[in-house]
Amino acid sequence: MTSRRAFLAGASALGAVAFRADALDRAAGAAEDLGDARPCDLAADEDYWGEIQRCFDADRTVVNLNNGGVSPTPTHVLEAMIRDLRFTNESPVQHMWRVLEPRVESVRRDLAREFGCDPEEIAVTRNASEAMETLIFGIDLKPGDEAIITDQNYPRMQTSWAQRARRDGIVVKKLAFPVPLTSPDDFLGRIEAAITPRTRVIEIPQVTNLTGQVLPVREVVALGKSRGIEVFVDGAHAFAQLPFRRDDLDCDYFGTSLHKWLLAPIGTGFLYIRKAKQKSIWPLMGADPELDEDVRKYEQIGTHPAANHNAVSAAIAFHRAIGVERKSARLRHLRDRWARALLDASPKFKLWTPLDPDWSCGIALVQIEGIDCGKLFGHLWDKHRIVTSPTKHAQFEGVRISANVYTTPQELDLFVDAMKNAAANGV
Ligand SMILES: Cc1ncc(COP(=O)(O)O)c(C=O)c1O
Repeated sequence: MTSRRAFLAGASALGAVAFRADALDRAAGAAEDLGDARPCDLAADEDYWGEIQRCFDADRTVVNLNNGGVSPTPTHVLEAMIRDLRFTNESPVQHMWRVLEPRVESVRRDLAREFGCDPEEIAVTRNASEAMETLIFGIDLKPGDEAIITDQNYPRMQTSWAQRARRDGIVVKKLAFPVPLTSPDDFLGRIEAAITPRTRVIEIPQVTNLTGQVLPVREVVALGKSRGIEVFVDGAHAFAQLPFRRDDLDCDYFGTSLHKWLLAPIGTGFLYIRKAKQKSIWPLMGADPELDEDVRKYEQIGTHPAANHNAVSAAIAFHRAIGVERKSARLRHLRDRWARALLDASPKFKLWTPLDPDWSCGIALVQIEGIDCGKLFGHLWDKHRIVTSPTKHAQFEGVRISANVYTTPQELDLFVDAMKNAAANGV
């Protein structure tokens, strides 16, 4: 068990570049060393996570605690994309269209395996917005038909629904719910109470971007199915962060970005639509009728780089080498490290996210009572070079913290000290 670690510790002196080139081997090798360690035990194993941290070219002069926005990709994934961009540029028509683009089929296969569906149910998109907007604008709705969403849905999706209401005369019912959620039944009850005979569709995030609250998606999907209502799941923060597969949700529709928790290059995502439902969802950009029942109709977006989406397969290999259960447990462990330290330090810290593992993930929202979150965000950056996400909602506010697998415990301790200082002395 120690031989590989001893080698890796010594190898750091040889220089970072050679060290990073075999990041995938290193992640897989580190996993081999683990024996039967349970994900929750491994979550605090700094030898293992130290090896994962070194797979990234993170700039350690800043502490990046906003990985929920968009995340860096491991160095070897970036290199795969750059290699393909260079190859593309040598002769774009030949190399990109003829050689590289057809390999999107391998990405489709890999994503389907990871999500637990048929490859013919996966469209490769540029992000979650494209995936979810395909659904929002692609479903046939008549004036007066109703859509149920929440006021904690991602803003772009709320905007898209509002535009559909203006254009097509549909009715969008926007529900509020308390956070931390008191119980999954509370959420389900609110959705159920909003359903009428005109309800055609429900759209909800699996994990909210505001507080990291996990919502009872499986139950909402079941409710929708029992009433003949389509349920669109925004999985932007769930895929590759939480351990689940399609059948755990039993969903017919799901969209996600891959540049958040899969750690794939920026500009990658996917849309899943169950085969039987594809005919009734229009693509965002026009497609020929021959593609009506072909998931590739959602990929008719014109000229785009093949390099970015092809590197998704390298990101999946890295993700599998860690394993989603281990990753999920580590992200919660990191969140607990800073969140519990603040909660223990002073009643001035308010956490808007539950710590219960069933309903939370690596993302959490913290407020210092009496301090505006925008000012706190500015202070953390200006004085400490700590990146957070200021978050305001009608019911709550704070700075959103989302560490990642390359985040070190020491970086989180710097954040804790900076927050304690701000609470004691102001910003
Ligand atoms: C819940 C949720 N959905 C969708 C998105 C949109 O992601 P993207 O900008 O990658 O399309 C985000 C981004 O943070 C999000 O948090």
